[in-house]
Amino acid sequence: MIDRIAELRSEAEAAIAGAPGSAELEELRVRYLGRKAELPNVLRGIAQLPPQERGPTGKAANQARQALEALIAQRAEQLQAGELEERLRTDTVDVTLPGAPPQPVGRHHLLTATRREIEDIFLGLGFRIAEGPEVETVYYNFDALNHSPTHPSRDRLDTFYVGDDTVLRTHTSPMQPRAMEAEPPPLYIIIPGRVYRRDSDATHTPQFHQIEGLAVDEDITLADLKGTLLAFARAIFGPDREVRLRPHFFPFTEPSVEVDVSCFMEHVAGRRCRVCKDSNWVEILGAGMVDPNVFGYVREHGYDAERIQGFAFGMGIERIAMLKHEVPDLRLLYDNDVRFLEQFG
Ligand code: PHE
Repeated sequence: MIDRIAELRSEAEAAIAGAPGSAELEELRVRYLGRKAELPNVLRGIAQLPPQERGPTGKAANQARQALEALIAQRAEQLQAGELEERLRTDTVDVTLPGAPPQPVGRHHLLTATRREIEDIFLGLGFRIAEGPEVETVYYNFDALNHSPTHPSRDRLDTFYVGDDTVLRTHTSPMQPRAMEAEPPPLYIIIPGRVYRRDSDATHTPQFHQIEGLAVDEDITLADLKGTLLAFARAIFGPDREVRLRPHFFPFTEPSVEVDVSCFMEHVAGRRCRVCKDSNWVEILGAGMVDPNVFGYVREHGYDAERIQGFAFGMGIERIAMLKHEVPDLRLLYDNDVRFLEQFG
């Protein structure tokens, strides 16, 4: 019996050492140590042996079982480590491979593309980009921009009030005084962002986008404003464009102007141009020289109206995009219909 135990033990030891994987090892465990296996049977049958054989046989069988259990545990650990290694090596996903089938990459929304195009032009002209809060105080949205206490756009019918002294900004202009408070002149910045007005129809949405421009330095004149906007108009609407300034009014610029760009559509004799209505001019933005009263609000931050001048302008991104791409209805920009969006970018 002892010989048989030794034989079983060495057979099992060799098999365990050579087990190629965890599954095979488990089969060996069942084969040699499972309930129906020979070795446990020997242990269970010890009582039936002649008394003088019980001690040595029991001892050998127990030692064999313990040795095999230890060996199996050890081999299991080895195999599991190797198998984990192997899985880590083969399961790696190359995230840089194109999908199958390749997925469409998408594109910028026309408004994002237009904003970036405008930003690029002004970055090229030496302006920096600044951003400001969409929830704004009445002070920055109106007061510090020289709006009289009775200015109509302060009305709750025109402006979204969040509190008595807080509004959703109606334009990006509040960043003018904010930017001037933050740093002394010279200042050349543009401010893109969302603005809000209580308007909603084919040509107005309650939320839209503007880009503000502000240049403050010594010896800034209206000619600098016109030259800057001419460079902008030519960059975005084509090299042959001209601009013209028409007198207008804004509380925070003096003089104030509306800026037209010469029509960029092809004009066919006998057919009325849909963009300029044959006037040959298209309004693109509002602008002007910074009103000295506005400098008055930021005087202690280095803005002395006797020493420095500035120009400012503000344009609607929707309007620029619609003009440039002949979009007939503002709402197309917000419907998220891919058949429309796919045409751009
Ligand atoms: N903030 C003005 C508007 O929303 C535009 C503007 C900006 C005009 C800067 C002059 C100077 O209509």
